[in-house]
Amino acid sequence: MAQIIDGKAVAAKVRQEVAQRAAEFTQQYGRPPGLHVLLAGDDPASAVYVRSKEKAAEQAGFAGNVQRLPATITQAELEARVAQLNADPAVDGILVQLPLPAGIDEKPILELIDPAKDVDGFHAISVGALWTGQPGLVPCTPKGCMRLLQEAGVQIAGKRAVVIGRSNIVGKPIAALLLAAHATVTIAHSRTEDLPGLCRQADILIAAVGRAKMIKGDWIKPGAAVIDVGMNRDDNGKLCGDVDFASAEPVAGVITPVPGGVGPMTIAMLMDNTLQAAHRRQAAS
Ligand code: GUN
Repeated sequence: MAQIIDGKAVAAKVRQEVAQRAAEFTQQYGRPPGLHVLLAGDDPASAVYVRSKEKAAEQAGFAGNVQRLPATITQAELEARVAQLNADPAVDGILVQLPLPAGIDEKPILELIDPAKDVDGFHAISVGALWTGQPGLVPCTPKGCMRLLQEAGVQIAGKRAVVIGRSNIVGKPIAALLLAAHATVTIAHSRTEDLPGLCRQADILIAAVGRAKMIKGDWIKPGAAVIDVGMNRDDNGKLCGDVDFASAEPVAGVITPVPGGVGPMTIAMLMDNTLQAAHRRQAAS
């Protein structure tokens, strides 16, 4: 029987801490931290995510707003919005919600964000800082995974970690964080040979593939820490992770559920990143 990590409870604790520290920030500098979101188009999932981010920012005592922009917005117009936020001293964090509408090239938009305000940690400067051990903003979901491991008391230094998935948003940055915490890290992906065999060697297994219930209990080393970043629907339309929880839970030492594991941590860490950006910008001014 594994220890099941309650991501909702940890996220609530993080958000409470951030709200407390944000109140101190506001008192100290005479202005609240500011988070600004650009949401272009009408992707329904994005609308829900952004609404949650907006609510969390409000509860944290942040200033800021969401610019809801039409799907017909041009590349130049969207870039102008980012430039405006870069130039605004009251803005500490800029988040451009993905995916962007068809016809918009995402890369130049993300690279235009001032790295000091890059609360998603997607800018190449942020990525470079992460891999070279320099201070910078770290992507929210990977940062949330690390916090969950820490909260569960999982030892990382010297351990063998396997990350399944090589995306820029989750797989690669979490590998960098685990490496920085002195794990021996392997990044696996769709072309990895004998994936079950590799997973069975992992003391820490991070699943970020996006395939419902792919990782079975007999892929897991007894006692391993299993972090499930997946967010899928099963055959019955029910929310599920990349890990087959029913077969994995009896084998794992600690495990995150879906929903209620990694998911709630992403927004909590976005709040944390915004406050961090605000402090850094204030210290640099
Ligand atoms: N769309 C889905 N997840 C994310 C995220 O973490 N950041 C941004 N900007 N867009 C997303």
